[in-house]
Amino acid sequence: MGILTTILEFPVVALLAVWNSFLAILTRLNNRPSTVAHFETDSLTSLLLTSQFFVKPSPPPEGTSFVGKTALITGSNTGLGLATARVLLQHGLSRLIIAVRNVEKGERAKLNLRVEFPGAKIDVWEVDMARFSSVVAFAKRANAELERLDVAILNAGLIKPDWGMTEDGHEEVFQVNYLSTALLAVMLLPVLRSTTRNVESVARLTVVSSTMGLVSQFKNRHADPLLKSFDEFDGTRGWSLQDGSDRYSVTKLLGMMLVRRLAGLVSSEKVIINAVDPALVKNTGLQDLMPYFPARLVGNAIGRLAGRTMTQGAWAYVDAVDGKKEESHGRLVRNWEIDTAHPMMNTEDGKKVEEELWAETVEELEKVAGVKAILGV
Ligand SMILES: NC(=O)c1ccc[n+]([C@@H]2O[C@H](COP(=O)([O-])OP(=O)(O)OC[C@H]3O[C@@H](n4cnc5c(N)ncnc54)[C@H](OP(=O)(O)O)[C@@H]3O)[C@@H](O)[C@H]2O)c1
Repeated sequence: MGILTTILEFPVVALLAVWNSFLAILTRLNNRPSTVAHFETDSLTSLLLTSQFFVKPSPPPEGTSFVGKTALITGSNTGLGLATARVLLQHGLSRLIIAVRNVEKGERAKLNLRVEFPGAKIDVWEVDMARFSSVVAFAKRANAELERLDVAILNAGLIKPDWGMTEDGHEEVFQVNYLSTALLAVMLLPVLRSTTRNVESVARLTVVSSTMGLVSQFKNRHADPLLKSFDEFDGTRGWSLQDGSDRYSVTKLLGMMLVRRLAGLVSSEKVIINAVDPALVKNTGLQDLMPYFPARLVGNAIGRLAGRTMTQGAWAYVDAVDGKKEESHGRLVRNWEIDTAHPMMNTEDGKKVEEELWAETVEELEKVAGVKAILGV
């Protein structure tokens, strides 16, 4: 640590302070009164300072092997998904499904990986997480065509500068980051369960979350009905930077709740289900999607100064899908440890909200694809 850390930390703290003030000013300008009490969370600044400066990313330990295994990663044409594909292949992965919304981009990624890993079987399959029909078709294909699925990493995600609805009638970030992720997670359970032969090789399902999820205020958590409130927007006020950032954060918190609920229904002897936070990772496409140009600028600068490399972010994923075992079932893996997750999740209020969220999610997904039979509820 010492002087080097201090020198490195200074511009990051300064930038984070600028960022926080910036958000505070925008919140005040927006002046959207909330009837829900402010929830005490750690600050984003302190969470990021710890993960970016006081945690040393570790590569997968010697002996890590995915030989004979099949893995599927959504959004693996680029960014963390592609970096994770590469790390799994470096550790002997036998078959990779690159699950992407744009097959052309997926084929380009495959071409590069082919050169590096000529022995692996790599396929590109289409899945657009903004369309339930595409997610259902993809999951049916996985169950029908894959002889085994050892690792599923639900990594596809986005942050958006503007409000937009999908053809299924949901706000896009909410559908991609949460609803479709939940749908895919449930629909992949049959093939994951049937892959597990013994306790040594339990199939894995990992949902990608974020540090931003740990600071979400989840302001609409008492809305009734809850899911519908994510799709309602008063257009006259506009969609601000704060709204875009809040929306991303809350969907990442919902992912943590999803993982805890699924883990309550599926035995860790059949499928180990967890969430992972790679912390701040630089040079992915995510920062470029950040709403509002100055925010992008600050976000990129913080990323450059403090961000983990994509390979280090991928190591965090591999820790969640292989390093951590049943102790991570239903939990968030962060900084190579099992995290306490969002403090709200440990309160009575938070547990009730999670119950309501899950009940409504199951009903919504039942309409889309009959998930109750898979879940046995
Ligand atoms: N970078 C970070 O610091 C950081 C930190 C914490 C968590 N994360 C999470 O890590 C995951 C990967 O992000 P990244 O940083 O690697 O960003 P990225 O480079 O932008 O990658 C996002 C991936 O998601 C895909 N995607 C977006 N919308 C989709 C849709 N409708 N259907 C299917 N795929 C879709 C993108 O496909 P296209 O290429 O076609 O757009 C891309 O492959 C995300 O879940 C993100 O929230 C990132």
